[in-house]
Amino acid sequence: MKKRLTLILSCVLSIVLLSSCDDGDIYDKEVVYDVSGRTAKLTGHLVGLSHWPTSHYIALAGFVKDNDYAVISKIVPSTSEDVDLVLSNIPDSVESVELCVLSRLRKRIYTLVSKSGDAIATTDTIRLESEGDVSMFNIIQQHTFNTTCVNCHGGSNFAGAGLYLTEGKSYSSMVGHPSSKLPEFNIVESGDAANSVLHKVLRTDLSKSWRYDHTSEIVSYDVLNLIDSWISNGAYEN
Ligand code: HEC
Repeated sequence: MKKRLTLILSCVLSIVLLSSCDDGDIYDKEVVYDVSGRTAKLTGHLVGLSHWPTSHYIALAGFVKDNDYAVISKIVPSTSEDVDLVLSNIPDSVESVELCVLSRLRKRIYTLVSKSGDAIATTDTIRLESEGDVSMFNIIQQHTFNTTCVNCHGGSNFAGAGLYLTEGKSYSSMVGHPSSKLPEFNIVESGDAANSVLHKVLRTDLSKSWRYDHTSEIVSYDVLNLIDSWISNGAYEN
């Protein structure tokens, strides 16, 4: 009699247990598990995306520590100025998420907007916002001419060789404009980097005998390649 009661009780217990497996709880947990991994969302209004050449691009990208090569990235499309871009399945190893300029090999050249640390470690959705002109020329202006050249080229009382590299003046001072040092060449010859004085000054020994030697002015080959690529691609203003 006792044995039969135990049998009945264990049958009832297993029915209860089995049916509790079916109540939806575990299914919900599985759904949460499936979408694990962080997502980054970039929103904003960006102009100047349409003239980037295939050698470089503006992208939303994730980087691990001490490495300039993106482990995950997505090109910001030039189809619309209103940007709404999602980068999903960002690996746990990613320590910074950036709107940046990448080379074709996905190497970071310039960072435009960046989030790192707690701002990306403790959230599932990393939000970045950006507004403004991300044309190749404006990016070079902001990240190289403004930081490296304007002190001697129009930012103070002095403009070496009369060349203004300040915002608003630099484009017309260079593109299709004859060099005062080598009057047979333009400072920037659109479509032809090798025959542009800007290229010669930064990448050859041309200025070794000048009042100022520019040979080591820009040491990053990535930046030098970006400037050449801007010239070769037609030296667009925007
Ligand atoms: C420390 C001052 C200094 C800095 C910094 C500097 N330059 Fe110059 N640059 C000069 C001077 C001075 C001349 C004129 C040299 C001469 O007359 O012998 C010159 C001449 C030039 C010329 C030749 C212009 C022409 O009409 O022939 C170019 C191009 C040029 N610089 C580009 C740059 C760029 C690009 C940068 C930044 C990456 C830069 N320079 C940074 C001082 C500077």
